[in-house]
Amino acid sequence: MKWASRAVPVISAAVAALAARDLLQRDHALLRNFPVIGRARYLLEAIGPELRQYIVAGNNEERPFTRDQRRWIYASAKKENNYFGFGTDNDIEYTPGYPIIKHRTFGRAVPPSSPTAGHEVELPCAKVLGAARGRPLAFRPGSVVNISGMSFGSLSGRAVEALNRGAALAGCLQNTGEGGLSPYHRNGGELVFQIGTAYFGCRDERGRFSLARLKDLIAGAPVRALEIKLSQGAKPSLGGLLPAAKVSAEIAATRGIAPGQDCVSPSRHAEFSDCDSLLDWVELLAAETGLPVGIKSAVGDLGFWDELTTLMRDTGRGVDFVNIDGGEGGTGAAPLIFTDSVSLPFQQGFTRVYRTFAEKDLHEQTVFIGAGKLGLPDNAVVAFALGCDMVNVGREAMLSIGCIQAQKCHTDTCPTGVATQNPWLTRGLDPTLKAARAANYIRTLRRDLLKVAEACGMEHPGLIDTDTVEILDGRTASTPLREVYGYRPGWGLPSATDRTEIVRLMTAEAPQGGSATPSPTAAG
Ligand SMILES: Cc1cc2nc3c(=O)[nH]c(=O)nc-3n(C[C@H](O)[C@H](O)[C@H](O)COP(=O)(O)O)c2cc1C
Ligand code: SF4
Repeated sequence: MKWASRAVPVISAAVAALAARDLLQRDHALLRNFPVIGRARYLLEAIGPELRQYIVAGNNEERPFTRDQRRWIYASAKKENNYFGFGTDNDIEYTPGYPIIKHRTFGRAVPPSSPTAGHEVELPCAKVLGAARGRPLAFRPGSVVNISGMSFGSLSGRAVEALNRGAALAGCLQNTGEGGLSPYHRNGGELVFQIGTAYFGCRDERGRFSLARLKDLIAGAPVRALEIKLSQGAKPSLGGLLPAAKVSAEIAATRGIAPGQDCVSPSRHAEFSDCDSLLDWVELLAAETGLPVGIKSAVGDLGFWDELTTLMRDTGRGVDFVNIDGGEGGTGAAPLIFTDSVSLPFQQGFTRVYRTFAEKDLHEQTVFIGAGKLGLPDNAVVAFALGCDMVNVGREAMLSIGCIQAQKCHTDTCPTGVATQNPWLTRGLDPTLKAARAANYIRTLRRDLLKVAEACGMEHPGLIDTDTVEILDGRTASTPLREVYGYRPGWGLPSATDRTEIVRLMTAEAPQGGSATPSPTAAG
């Protein structure tokens, strides 16, 4: 008990000092009025999200990802049992806007029924990227699920490495994000190189775009396509700032900037200023590199899309792919007003853009990619029905490598080492182990998409049409997805030629299930 008699005066003195400090400070009225105990409020505010997550929130309450959604991702990533028992706890009957997928009793595809069936099946894109415009390096992406752009800088090097190795294992593409192509992106996974407004990785000493540097960069890395970033759902039309403290020598070298100085991304591109000059630049990049070239954008005013598609139709220039990011999408850091209120949510934004392309008959020549919580099978199925050929997964991929949705990505204090440059915090993230998790998650998502397609009688999720999904209006009524978004028959599907080819590929690849042979008395 001697230690206690010594400790009591020390603790009392510390509390008294803290109380004196609280009483004398002027910044916080709460602490002036309630010295010491007022601090409990700040503590609760700091750990509130975690407390709600583990103790208070229900299975479907949290955002961006509910507990059920995270549980499904974590279990899929660890190849654990990701089934749910006893039936849905979603309020299907009374939730307007709830999508229902309509299975078919007799369909062309006969799904095998073992729970692991389809896990190893490849699920390639139903369109060949760049083929419609004759790009020399056109290719069929091997996976309809790919990793969304998240820069080295906003993610740790180890997280980027885990995702790149995971992409290699799962046979999918990893988008570099706008922060350049780092050594962590060179671990076997194939890449889409994103070109942002600051031209990181392909800029000269004065920050101007350098075609020579771009060509050098892609000559030494497995880059399969180029993506010009126009905007991102969580922060459209905003530039970015990586504070000096985070600009390590490694990040500086990857981006082509000076270390230890604030790193600013402008809000607009310098290489083009309207649709006409954008299309010229797209064609220049494609001609110089041979790669398919596309754009990533959030959706706000439709004038841009009208003008772009009119020029594509009338001049023969064009983008090979369009990647639409929903306003519900993620970011490393953005002002609240932008994350909450600027740019349309995925379904509304995507369908407006798709319609603009389809009205000008450009939809079958363009590969459509979607992002915005599409790493969950139910959301992804609706996206495919609406015309997506592929989905990109950002935060879901982060969850698969250990993110716990602490939402501190902007503070450099990410507790799981995913979104921080702090060496102490990143050392806990083992890239090899987490790569396997990312790959397991991606394979499971693909498997679920294939299973749902087969339940609807189709061989591939890209063949699910807008009449296969209905949107519930409440307990007693529902509207076909086609009517909800004003689609004409056939919109949302690849061309007849592409459909035939993907069915051929899938039936050669996917194991078909079956039953016992029919009895002698069976009809037909
Ligand atoms: C940490 C983080 C960093 C991101 N960095 C980029 C980026 O560099 N370029 C970009 O186009 N989008 C970026 N995004 C957006 C994602 O690529 C994606 O479009 C968005 O999060 C929606 O997908 P999700 O709902 O699957 O996360 C980032 C998102 C996160 C969470
Ligand atoms: S654990 Fe939290 S801080 Fe880290 S990446 Fe996930 S949401 Fe961001």
